[in-house]
Amino acid sequence: MKNAHQVHRGRRDALIAAMRRHSGGGLALMPTSAEVVRNRDSTYPYRHDSYFYYLTGFPEPEAVVALVADDKGDRHVLFCREKHPERETWDGFRYGPDAAKDIFGFDEAHPIGELDRMLPDFASDRPALYTPVGMHADWDRRVAATLNEVRARVRTGVTAPDEIVDVRGTLDRMRLVKDAHELALMRRAGAISSEAHRRAMARARPGWHEYEVEAELAHEFLKNGAQSVAYPSIVASGPNACVLHYRDNDRLMADGDLLLIDAGCEYRGYASDITRTFPVNGRFTGPQKDVYELVLAAQVACLDAVRPGVPFHDYHEVAERVLAQGLIDLKLIEGPLDAALESGSYKRFYMHRAGHWLGMDVHDAGLYQEKGESVKLEPGMVLTVEPGLYIRAGDGVPAHFADIGVRIEDDVVVTADGIENLTGGTPKTVAEVEAACGDR
Ligand code: GLY
Ligand code: MN
Ligand code: MN
Repeated sequence: MKNAHQVHRGRRDALIAAMRRHSGGGLALMPTSAEVVRNRDSTYPYRHDSYFYYLTGFPEPEAVVALVADDKGDRHVLFCREKHPERETWDGFRYGPDAAKDIFGFDEAHPIGELDRMLPDFASDRPALYTPVGMHADWDRRVAATLNEVRARVRTGVTAPDEIVDVRGTLDRMRLVKDAHELALMRRAGAISSEAHRRAMARARPGWHEYEVEAELAHEFLKNGAQSVAYPSIVASGPNACVLHYRDNDRLMADGDLLLIDAGCEYRGYASDITRTFPVNGRFTGPQKDVYELVLAAQVACLDAVRPGVPFHDYHEVAERVLAQGLIDLKLIEGPLDAALESGSYKRFYMHRAGHWLGMDVHDAGLYQEKGESVKLEPGMVLTVEPGLYIRAGDGVPAHFADIGVRIEDDVVVTADGIENLTGGTPKTVAEVEAACGDR
């Protein structure tokens, strides 16, 4: 397997090749994210920009990658912070340009303080500039200043790029199909998150607050070297399970509640995204089991529908059909099935899509539709499969189904002949879930 440095250099070469095909060459510039102040002199935990990291593997803020494709050859250039013994004493290690150049496989590296001075030369006589447009206001201003500076030099004989291309389009297409390096990290992210859900099932109990379960998830993530959650953990008990992006995680859980947990770690820049729903006291009631088994049947049918060559949209239709028929059977909506699908009456209880791309971002880069057609699945694409039902009390809902919310979510890679389930080790059938809960 290639080492990380070769992997990132290979991705930069692929972007350069795409630039040559599109415009015969040019300059690509991609900045990483800025540090953000949380309050006074504290910053939020730093998270690199996903596009920048995809191309570099470089973890520090205040960095820009520049890729030159021209007749004299390619140049891979990094701008980054200089070494700074005093700041390193307070805030920690910085690579500095010299070490970064060698370790991250660049041809050149320069101090970030040189960027504005050097960019006009980089951008002169290039047919096209490839950079994000409208992603960061500061960056847009910097790009505009660079182009104006190049134009101001036209009497010296240089030309400014004719074309500005949002580089994210090409990178989104590249990111949609994961390479072996990415899949290895995503397997690990999935395995850690799976263990976290197992731990939550084993430990949650009536009388705990939701945040106590969130702490169990965080424990498992950090203990296994995941640096962060991929998104804020949703720990939603009882009626909160019907709030799709529930955030408070502060309810006291009662005997008889279901607990919906949507939580996944980020491991070395890659997300996982698992949902499981289980009874806080360890045993499903009859109506809870009816709803759970229906969502499970939909999820299993969706997993069966994911394979190479089929449109992304197909498994969403599978979820709608199975859930709508089940809702008719439970007498929560009226049949027949075709009428329910046509009217969308099931959307009262199932109002989201069955999944999304997954990668460095939890709702990852990549188009779902191109020229009006659903994207076709290919080996290496990673997506979630996550049907659910959310039965809010009121409006004719029978009391025994009131406030039951269930979602079941796995992360899968499309393979040559089907899928690899990255989170398949997480208890899922009623018997598996009750066994994982154990005796309270
Ligand atoms: N956790 C976000 C989602 O499932 O889409
Ligand atoms: Mn999720
Ligand atoms: Mn998801």
